[in-house]
Amino acid sequence: MYRLLFTQVLRRFDAETVHHATVRALAVLSVLPFVRRLLFRWLAPTDPALRISAFGVHFPGPFGLAAGFDKDAACAEAVAALGFGHVEVGTITAHAQPGNPRPRLFRLSGERALVNRMGFNNHGAAAAARRLRRTRGVPVVVGVNIGKTKVVPEAQAAADYVASAAQLAPLADYLVVNVSSPNTPGLRNLQAVDLLRPLLAAVKEVADGTPRRTPLLVKIAPDLADDDIDAVADLALELGLDGIIATNTTIDHRGETGGLSGRPLKSRSLAVLRRLRARVGDRITLVSVGGVEDVDDVWERLLAGATLVQGYTGWIYNGPFWASRIHRQLSRRVRRHGLKSITEAIGRTA
Ligand SMILES: Cc1cc2nc3c(=O)[nH]c(=O)nc-3n(C[C@H](O)[C@H](O)[C@H](O)COP(=O)(O)O)c2cc1C
Repeated sequence: MYRLLFTQVLRRFDAETVHHATVRALAVLSVLPFVRRLLFRWLAPTDPALRISAFGVHFPGPFGLAAGFDKDAACAEAVAALGFGHVEVGTITAHAQPGNPRPRLFRLSGERALVNRMGFNNHGAAAAARRLRRTRGVPVVVGVNIGKTKVVPEAQAAADYVASAAQLAPLADYLVVNVSSPNTPGLRNLQAVDLLRPLLAAVKEVADGTPRRTPLLVKIAPDLADDDIDAVADLALELGLDGIIATNTTIDHRGETGGLSGRPLKSRSLAVLRRLRARVGDRITLVSVGGVEDVDDVWERLLAGATLVQGYTGWIYNGPFWASRIHRQLSRRVRRHGLKSITEAIGRTA
């Protein structure tokens, strides 16, 4: 059904136009309590065997929506009502900014992939904070992903992240420092440990200072050399971060400029997860994202050591019930393997 809608209708429209229409529809859904609750009851993961705790936060299931879909924290409740176990909103920058000129989002349908060069279009931290303060009608775990404002020079990057963190950390279930998007000039240079250490230390001070101590994670690119992955992992341990999210989109492709996501990213994302797990073991939470398409992919990431798994591009190609389906299939798989809880699967093949 969704495949027909996608090939016959959605694909004929510009990808970003469809995206904005979807977010608007979900934003409306987010404020319609009756429909939202009905969907939530029908689609959200409720199997106790799927519950996972990570860095002190309780997730109803391991599979969540990656950053970049709900950039302005407009529709997290509706996303949760459709079956995602958490929603990472953002990337949010301290100052509102328009992002790159359109077109900036491209479908590669044959490869089940997307290329984007959105460039952190968002309404800024203050607007996001106002939205996040609204009471939530359904339980939803919300991670907040922050990035650097484009016009802010590298030398002032830490202060810019701190400005966002100060407004958003108290409202987040977890906070993510994004230094890995390819569409803000120079951003990924911040992954170099000498620049990353003071930046993460400054944001951590803010996150540690909130009433509930907000867990802090860092999101990395798939294009880092293996030694650099190890260096970021070591730094995360040294600073006492709560987790690493791997990976963002890759610039290792031809065609339109921007970051590639979806199926072509799968093997590299999995390789980065395995490398991280080998380095840090279970001392820090690993969140795996990149090219996840179905329950087999999610299962593989859990076995390889991810505590949480995220997806974005797969949602575009698999339709609204994708996350709910994956959670239902995970429930069956947990039982088939004779496990009492999905947590027993984590790291089994690591
Ligand atoms: C259109 C689009 C926008 C994105 N924007 C962000 C973003 O703002 N911040 C971020 O950390 N990641 C962003 N991402 C990356 C995703 O969160 C994810 O890391 C990446 O797409 C790999 O997962 P996937 O293959 O399941 O899509 C974006 C991805 C897409 C496709």
